[in-house]
Amino acid sequence: MATVYSTSVFQPGIFSNKVVFCTGGAGTICRRQVEALVILGANAVIVGRKKAVTEKAAAEIQHLRKGSKVLGLSVDVRDYKALQEAMEITVEELGKIDYVICGAAGNFLADFRHLSSNAFKTVIEIDLLGSYNTVKAAQNQLIKNKGTVIFVSATLHYYGVPFQSHVGAAKAGIDALSNALAVELGPFGVRCNCIAPGPIEGTEGISRLLPKEMTENVRKAVPLQRFGTIDDIANATVFLFSPASSFITGTTIVVDGAAWHTGQQGTFPYPESILHSDKLSLFAPKSKSKL
Ligand code: HXC
Repeated sequence: MATVYSTSVFQPGIFSNKVVFCTGGAGTICRRQVEALVILGANAVIVGRKKAVTEKAAAEIQHLRKGSKVLGLSVDVRDYKALQEAMEITVEELGKIDYVICGAAGNFLADFRHLSSNAFKTVIEIDLLGSYNTVKAAQNQLIKNKGTVIFVSATLHYYGVPFQSHVGAAKAGIDALSNALAVELGPFGVRCNCIAPGPIEGTEGISRLLPKEMTENVRKAVPLQRFGTIDDIANATVFLFSPASSFITGTTIVVDGAAWHTGQQGTFPYPESILHSDKLSLFAPKSKSKL
């Protein structure tokens, strides 16, 4: 990763003796969230589906602070038992779990007419069921350590975004899960919040999901006139795990430069030619299922 997380406004060592468990931790946004926490004193376990990628990312993150311990484990968040085993390894190796980031997500653009039941189910299972599985498997540690959960949500379910019905449904479910858990686990000292990133530069959300010809229009439509950075998300993460947010639970921090308030212009401003096309050549159906 080219840039280095800047910690200037946060106290060094603020997360000493804290352990974070992050799903999707080798991905661009979640990796920077974990890097920030590790630089500020935490130890971490990141999990992802691709073993080599996850282990390499963990080794690189560990390098950021002398004495830190960062493990990378191969886990599919749809597999509850595998998550339980990963949590057991975390407790064995790092002693406990204080913080959980539910960041694993699947995404592709798909016109609803070409979206198979299995494709919809796949995204719901990775994003929503995966988030449930993660918090469920961590619940004893979270309660024991008065821990904190951050769900990585989105803004695309705040209104109707085309070609994202599956992801919007999953993210809406994640918001609901976070709110309910904030209420149920609050009496045990556990806080649960969402971070909803807007368009963040250097992520797959921009490079793969946003057609190139739309990129500049989206950037100009963001009221702050820029894309967000992965450090913007990391800073919100540090705040939500820090004691500075100790009375904040059951809410969402939207980190998007007010993009979603502009409606589709600041996110997915598809032209009429795409929206009303019968061919939808941009999103060629890949489904093997009979629709
Ligand atoms: C239509 C598709 C498809 C596509 C997969 N499917 N890709 N349908 N268009 N592009 C369908 C398949 O045809 C299949 O249905 C079903 O989905 C399952 O596909 P598999 O490949 O077997 O599933 P799996 O290996 O589990 O992985 C699916 C996946 C993967 C998770 C979606 O493609 C993936 O990992 N994508 C990248 C993950 C990613 O980008 N993460 C960052 C998310 S960013 P059939 O009917 O054929 O059986 C994010 C931010 C959102 O979420 C905000 C944006 C601004």
